[in-house]
Amino acid sequence: MSGLSQQLSRSPPSTLEPGTFKGMDISSALSQSQLDLQMLSTTPSTSSAPGGPRSFGSTSRFEPITISSSQQQTKDHFLIPNHYQDCVSTVLISHGMIMDRVQKLAADIRAAYTGKTIHLLCVLKGGSAFFQDLQVCLRNFHQFSKQESIPFTFDFIRAKSYAGTESTGTVKVSGCDLEKLKGKHVLLVEDIVDTGTTMSYLIPLLATYNPASLKVTSLLEKRTPRSCGFKADFVGFSVPDEFVIGYCLDYNDAFRDMQHICVISKTGIEKYKDGVPDS
Ligand code: HPA
Ligand code: MG
Repeated sequence: MSGLSQQLSRSPPSTLEPGTFKGMDISSALSQSQLDLQMLSTTPSTSSAPGGPRSFGSTSRFEPITISSSQQQTKDHFLIPNHYQDCVSTVLISHGMIMDRVQKLAADIRAAYTGKTIHLLCVLKGGSAFFQDLQVCLRNFHQFSKQESIPFTFDFIRAKSYAGTESTGTVKVSGCDLEKLKGKHVLLVEDIVDTGTTMSYLIPLLATYNPASLKVTSLLEKRTPRSCGFKADFVGFSVPDEFVIGYCLDYNDAFRDMQHICVISKTGIEKYKDGVPDS
């Protein structure tokens, strides 16, 4: 299969059995492609939410910072771009908090890849701010750390599963030449794991290109009953079931140009329901 412009679709996550991809047990899906099973653990762990979906993906990870609904801050305490004043309900994670957390994630990632070269695969467009700040931190280690340096390369992939505030259940993938992933220690860089639709589609797809290992870092993970149970390996924050915007997370391409991660308001949903006007 050519790496360029694969346009594929899959069933919505509600039809996905936890721990399975396309009706196939995840471990057989991955062993088929000789994926390093040590790197992407496939044993479902018990769910933290009673009665919720069982998790798959990583079972050995540092837990993210949990942001509760009550931690939402009034937007008046922060600088919000003028053009978004009415569109923001509350500030969920300030830019300063994001930057501090990204530094720690970079340190955790660095420690997990000792002796290896990481191939960062940024999932566009939402993952681009996180990717940018993460690679600055990883570069800074080269300059300032006395420990063994961890080289990295990177590429970009486009994956789209959202229209407005709804997951379509269809994932469109395009971008990098996936054949080049063979033998590499691939680390997907995502903005948010919400329902898990994108990851439950992307991971088996990428595994067929025989990377040496395949892991996922996501800045956010949403606590939602619509989750298919996928757990990333390195996660910044666990956030409540709200539609979040800012730091490259978008609603119809709006709000990527906002520093903080915020909860969208009803006005924001209405104002940008048809996308961002040209002028
Ligand atoms: N915000 C922006 N993009 C998203 C979200 C969200 O809450 N969930 C999935 N993609
Ligand atoms: Mg994303």
